[in-house]
Amino acid sequence: MIERLKELRGEAVAAFDGAASPQELEEARVRYLGRKSELNQASRGLKDLPEDERRAVGRAVNEIKNELAAHLTAATDRLEAAAGGAASSVDLTLPGRRPWVGGKHPITRTLERLESIFAGLGFEVATGPHIEDDFHNFEALNIPPDHPARDMHDTFYIDGDRLLRTHTSPVQIRTMKSRKPPVRIIAPGRVYRNETPDASHGSEFYQLEGLYVDRGVRFGELMGVLTKFLGELYGEAIAVRFRPGFFPFTEPSTEVDIECRICHGRGCPVCKNTGWVELLGAGMVDPRVFEAVGYDPDVYTGYAFGLGVDRIHMMMCGVNDIRLYHENDLRFLRQV
Ligand code: PHE
Repeated sequence: MIERLKELRGEAVAAFDGAASPQELEEARVRYLGRKSELNQASRGLKDLPEDERRAVGRAVNEIKNELAAHLTAATDRLEAAAGGAASSVDLTLPGRRPWVGGKHPITRTLERLESIFAGLGFEVATGPHIEDDFHNFEALNIPPDHPARDMHDTFYIDGDRLLRTHTSPVQIRTMKSRKPPVRIIAPGRVYRNETPDASHGSEFYQLEGLYVDRGVRFGELMGVLTKFLGELYGEAIAVRFRPGFFPFTEPSTEVDIECRICHGRGCPVCKNTGWVELLGAGMVDPRVFEAVGYDPDVYTGYAFGLGVDRIHMMMCGVNDIRLYHENDLRFLRQV
């Protein structure tokens, strides 16, 4: 019996070690280790053997089974490696896969940059609600119900009095109503307008408002602060232009342009062939606004400005469609 087992072991080892394909190996496994194999029959027949023989044969059967299992594993690995299979495709020297950690939206990064420049100029951040009322968004800013400026500020009304704010200027009103001068704030945030979306208009965008009120604040200071700010943002060499403008809540008012950074003043679709891009509205706070918030216009003067944050970033990176910022397309967001 033992002799026969040894013979079997020799045959099986040769079959496993010599198998040239997975099929051959599988056939050998069935023949030598399968349910109907001689080896298996031998272990099932153990119980019929006399006591002393049973021990010796049992031990031999177990040893051979273990030995054959090892040869089978080795043969499996050898064939997989030859086929370029699982065992060989694990390259432990490759660097690991980096997890995707995400990043800040370009508008968020721009807001942080603007906030840090204005913090350096002594401005603190103020906020206000996105759902405003007619008084803060219009009336107190010297825009009565029949004023033509309401045309450009058409918005989404919630009911007769409540609406989505069309600019960050209502934060001027809320801040002045709750504090005494001097006041020096910026108010960044999202604003809404009933616009038909195109490359330069969206129904949601971001603005950053600025307000400085104290005794003896003058227009020259406004020009100085804005020129300094634009120089910090785009580099000292950037050309800045102040044009007369009109806003109901500032007098006098100005619109501030920079040279188009897409075409460097030569003329292109983004600057509508003018070579200049409007970035800010600004001016001296109108006395009617001071009256609406209870400041004495004979004692205090101040300036205010408002800028489009999306547009600031567009000019920084040469982006030509404002809608890209709100579409959440990662192919765009990863680039800018
Ligand atoms: N609120 C104005 C707008 O949205 C911009 C502005 C702000 C102009 C402050 C002057 C002063 O059009």
